[in-house]
Amino acid sequence: MSPSFLLYGANGYTGTLIAQMAAERGLNPILAGRGRARIARLAAELKLEHRVFALDDAPAVEANLKDVPVVLHCAGPFSRTSQPMVDACLRTGTHYLDITGEIAVFESLAARDAEARGAGVMLLPGVGFDVVPSDCLAAHLKRRLPAATKLTLGIGGVGRVSHGTATTMIENLGRGGLVRRGGRLTPVPSAWKTRRIDFGRGAIGATTIPWGDVATAFYSTGIPNIEVYAALPQTARLLMAASRRLERLLTTSSVQGFLKRRINARPAGPSDEERARGASFIWGEVEDDGGAKCVSRLSAPEGYTLTALTALAIVERTLKGQAPTGFQTPSLAYGADFILEIEGVTREDVS
Ligand SMILES: NC(=O)c1ccc[n+]([C@@H]2O[C@H](COP(=O)([O-])OP(=O)(O)OC[C@H]3O[C@@H](n4cnc5c(N)ncnc54)[C@H](OP(=O)(O)O)[C@@H]3O)[C@@H](O)[C@H]2O)c1
Repeated sequence: MSPSFLLYGANGYTGTLIAQMAAERGLNPILAGRGRARIARLAAELKLEHRVFALDDAPAVEANLKDVPVVLHCAGPFSRTSQPMVDACLRTGTHYLDITGEIAVFESLAARDAEARGAGVMLLPGVGFDVVPSDCLAAHLKRRLPAATKLTLGIGGVGRVSHGTATTMIENLGRGGLVRRGGRLTPVPSAWKTRRIDFGRGAIGATTIPWGDVATAFYSTGIPNIEVYAALPQTARLLMAASRRLERLLTTSSVQGFLKRRINARPAGPSDEERARGASFIWGEVEDDGGAKCVSRLSAPEGYTLTALTALAIVERTLKGQAPTGFQTPSLAYGADFILEIEGVTREDVS
């Protein structure tokens, strides 16, 4: 069977989960990454082809993508890893997918839209939990209230996170929050606002976070004012609020190093059992200038399971030729109802 797509960062927590599910589906990915022994071991276990190359070796990245129609990039933080992979994809005509949730990465890929169209390449970042379900919900809400000028999203059910997710979060500590106001990304303090959100099991407290939709939902819906909230444990909320005063300290290399060592001493991510038990919830509200409002919400599998399911569903679509060129968001490429094709996802219009 010929290989179907290249999975870079396959030995990471999320990459391995995706590799296992892809193999179960008979998708036959090429497993890739920078660590020879780890990649080779996983490839042998799953009986898949593998390639080893580093992202700072541009000729090697290009040589390894030449015969590949689609790359699914799972090595983050993407603020450090996305650009060399995108550069190579644009040179080799390879469609680019990643699982970032980083606003700066979404914005930098959006800025390469014309370049990607010229190269006949689709750039679709954020094919995981952040942002597929929330992006599809935002597009659904825009469809329900076309004159909407304000979008508020809520993320619920966030459980144990992987090393990669925690590292990305730590690198953003002390950098404050972001919302979209009048179409522009606007800095706000960390944990700027709190409110109560009913994800379907009674209202709970949630805090503003700089989730990917602050970038992507604007491209998907054109709604100029966007805020995203997350229902986080009390300690996480207090830490975020405290980080406002500790900004300088949290960005020093010694504190960053200390926090990253603490992370690496913990399990790589949620266990299979935790994933099976977990669930995620997305809530959204749109409002127009006349005060009309609509609320809808989604219930879905646990975040890492959902990431693997949505990423592979998008890989499958891309391999079938459903790959509109240029910068895309999940709902722009596949529609607001795409998320309902994922097993275990339900949507409800609340008001
Ligand atoms: N959007 C979402 O919903 C979502 C869901 C899950 C994960 N993520 C993101 O995906 C990323 C990976 O998460 P994870 O859980 O798999 O983390 P992880 O277990 O820590 O794995 C990180 C992977 O990235 C690779 N990597 C890191 N920096 C690299 C570089 N400069 N060059 C090449 N490879 C590099 C690592 O390779 P080595 O082993 O060789 O270091 C490893 O394969 C994180 O940024 C995380 O935030 C997003």
